[in-house]
Amino acid sequence: MQTVRLGRTNAVVSAAGLGCGGHSRLGMSGGASAQEASRVVSAAIDLGITFIDTARLYGTEEAVGLGVKGRRDQVFISTKATPTGGRPGREGELATPEDLTESLEGSLRRLGTDHVDLFNLHGVMSAQYDACVETLLPELKRQQAAGKVRHIGITEAFGVDTRHQMLARAVPDAHFDVAMVGFNLLNPSARRTVFPAAQAKDIGTLIMFAVRRALSHPDVLRDTVAKLLASGEVPPGAVDPADPLKFLREHPGIASELEAAYRFCRHEPGAHVILTGTGSVEHLEANIAAINAPPLPAEISAQLEATFGAVDSVSGN
Ligand SMILES: NC(=O)c1ccc[n+]([C@@H]2O[C@H](COP(=O)([O-])OP(=O)(O)OC[C@H]3O[C@@H](n4cnc5c(N)ncnc54)[C@H](OP(=O)(O)O)[C@@H]3O)[C@@H](O)[C@H]2O)c1
Repeated sequence: MQTVRLGRTNAVVSAAGLGCGGHSRLGMSGGASAQEASRVVSAAIDLGITFIDTARLYGTEEAVGLGVKGRRDQVFISTKATPTGGRPGREGELATPEDLTESLEGSLRRLGTDHVDLFNLHGVMSAQYDACVETLLPELKRQQAAGKVRHIGITEAFGVDTRHQMLARAVPDAHFDVAMVGFNLLNPSARRTVFPAAQAKDIGTLIMFAVRRALSHPDVLRDTVAKLLASGEVPPGAVDPADPLKFLREHPGIASELEAAYRFCRHEPGAHVILTGTGSVEHLEANIAAINAPPLPAEISAQLEATFGAVDSVSGN
């Protein structure tokens, strides 16, 4: 397993990170119990993964706690709290420092640990960012001083913020040690708006949406590309609308679109941990191999750039 330095946290972690949210939630979206999901976590550690990302919102913290039991010191655990309320009747309002502390305490309990390595504000929108810095960041720093949180991070809501409006502000400000960024071969816009500043400020980056649904479901891919052809973001004639990524599959140096999708992210300058979300140990093994594989052939990188380089309106959700 290759390792990476996660920016100014100075932590050295596996280049492949286990994502415990997304559509799979370790298989819990398909009905797996926390006990069953915990087997994916322990298999990930057996396979060399040392970075695990979960969140209160995912409902997978208990599974992570079960999966890391007895091996807590081998893994870097990242969890999150949303910047909005959570108490009945106050769902849309900004969380208070007390709400945040309560969320962190619940996460520690479910994870069965006395500290998390990274605590993130989850899915922050640009309009919420100033209030997060003014009201919630001081509380995160207090928890850091108390030893419950090692590093502080922020994640974007890429499903709606496909142009990275929030991170375009947060990364240059550098209040947060780590940023979670949506990035994939269909929308590589973080290449212009996030990674250069992250590198300049030595911010650690976590890559989400490497595959998501557009790159694992052919029908979703066709619909997404049809939209991009209609908007003009993908030049006319650049791809076959019926099978848009055929050129990847047909290349002798590429095993599948999915493999190419993880390799694409892994070798992007400024990208650190590539998150992979799955409920299947078999998929996890294949994805780890892809994340550890060499860069894509130069002519394929050039073709991807010519085809999707201008896209910033879709997430691939
Ligand atoms: N704002 C935020 O903070 C935020 C938002 C979104 C995600 N995240 C984090 O980012 C992580 C990564 O995102 P993601 O979970 O969407 O991951 P992803 O790796 O981009 O996509 C995972 C999807 O692809 C499928 N898949 C994975 N490997 C496959 C394979 N080899 N063959 C066929 N299908 C495969 C999975 O289904 P199977 O279960 O069938 O494998 C799952 O539906 C999340 O888990 C979460 O930790 C954070």
